Amino acid sequence: MTARDPDCVLVSAPVPGCFHGRVPILEQVQLATQTYRLRLGAPELARAIRPGQFVMLRLPQTTDPLLGRPLALYDTVLDAAGLPVGVDIVYLVVGRLTGRLPPLRAGDQLEVWGPLGNGFPDLSGTAHVGLVAGGIGQTPFLAYVRELLGDRSYGGRPARRQVQRVSLFYGVRSADRAAGVEDFRATGATVHLASDDGSLGFRGFVTQLLEQRDMPDHLVGCGPEPMLQALAELARRRGVPCHLSLETPMACGLGICFSCVVPVRTAEGWDYRRACVDGPVFRADDLLFEVPPAR
Ligand SMILES: Cc1cc2nc3c(=O)[nH]c(=O)nc-3n(C[C@H](O)[C@H](O)[C@H](O)COP(=O)(O)OP(=O)(O)OC[C@H]3O[C@@H](n4cnc5c(N)ncnc54)[C@H](O)[C@@H]3O)c2cc1C
Ligand code: FES
Repeated sequence: MTARDPDCVLVSAPVPGCFHGRVPILEQVQLATQTYRLRLGAPELARAIRPGQFVMLRLPQTTDPLLGRPLALYDTVLDAAGLPVGVDIVYLVVGRLTGRLPPLRAGDQLEVWGPLGNGFPDLSGTAHVGLVAGGIGQTPFLAYVRELLGDRSYGGRPARRQVQRVSLFYGVRSADRAAGVEDFRATGATVHLASDDGSLGFRGFVTQLLEQRDMPDHLVGCGPEPMLQALAELARRRGVPCHLSLETPMACGLGICFSCVVPVRTAEGWDYRRACVDGPVFRADDLLFEVPPAR
């Protein structure tokens, strides 16, 4: 989104290090039922973004919908020389914005700002990391697996293997909803699948599947809130450190509007934190999920 990136139109720079511009769609591919991978030509964004961070996406030149929507980095796209030139995001059609994305084609433009959020933790020294995804919650994990295994570098940091082993536990409603399974298998991670109706892998919740396998030394979860709560409880019971990436609705993504606050434990009791700048990744032990009743 500079003179070096002629297809990207810089609209404004909302905060230092955050790009805000119109970028071209390079490709759109359907991965599963109602699930698509969008490839955006955005070299500056691709150079800066790290696993667990997200972008805000809007349709340009329309107010329907007015607000942007948060979408996780799926992976960065490299050119023949190995330089980051684009970002992939994977979305599930659920509402106003995502419902208007599938007809878009290469050459159409989207308004984007990012990278946003804190990203996933450095887990150097951990033997076995378990990534636990429910629904569309697998999207932030592809780049993270590659970073943990030292396969790829992100945000200008050199590639370095952080852990010995990564397992992905991925639960979906039914087989037709599983998106990107081959991408994950290609990373070298061990992939365990679950489905509510038994049409793919283990029949039942992904947290039940996790309980039946070797418990990893560190858990990281992303998915719907009931799944995250179940995972936090399982991790607490088994004494395993756990981080959770939240899918809290957001309006600005920049820490300005306070639409994304979540209650967390503090030394004084509890307080709110903004999921967009203090998260979306939190220590599971810090999250309260519900505002405590007033005393
Ligand atoms: C950090 C972060 C990363 C994320 N990454 C991804 C990602 O990689 N991929 C992804 O797909 N999603 C991701 N999400 C979730 C995504 O931002 C939301 O699903 C987003 O709201 C979709 O926008 P939308 O306009 O299509 O849906 P919205 O219109 O905002 O609808 C959101 C929800 O409301 C429900 N809803 C909408 N309209 C109605 C209605 N009329 N009646 C009842 N219910 C309704 C929808 O079913 C949906 O569950 C992420 C969220 C966060 C916070
Ligand atoms: S989305 Fe505006 S403060 Fe978090």
